[in-house]
Amino acid sequence: MEMKRAALEIVVPLGPVDAIPLGQGCTYVVDGCPIAVFRQRDGQLFATENACPHRGGPLAEGIIGDGKVICPLHARQFDLVTGASQDCAVKTYPVRVEGGEILLTLA
Ligand code: FES
Repeated sequence: MEMKRAALEIVVPLGPVDAIPLGQGCTYVVDGCPIAVFRQRDGQLFATENACPHRGGPLAEGIIGDGKVICPLHARQFDLVTGASQDCAVKTYPVRVEGGEILLTLA
């Protein structure tokens, strides 16, 4: 996986967007850190750290929709834009598609 550095951000190509079925998430390990990338049914992409801050549930395996993911272990709901939940939060990452490839930005 080749990383490109521009100013203070690092852009990481993660592969083809079609590798993530619509309405699901996938986990990518970036620099040793598991990151969940979600492809909503409307095609929007979101990225968060994969481990739920409650007890480490794999968020990439959660149910997604309407800009939210529900943790598969205890059903906490996280906003995929802000990472916020009722009493905790996950880190979010900018993610986009260029030429059919997912590009994740690390700050
Ligand atoms: S591990 Fe995610 S809600 Fe408990």
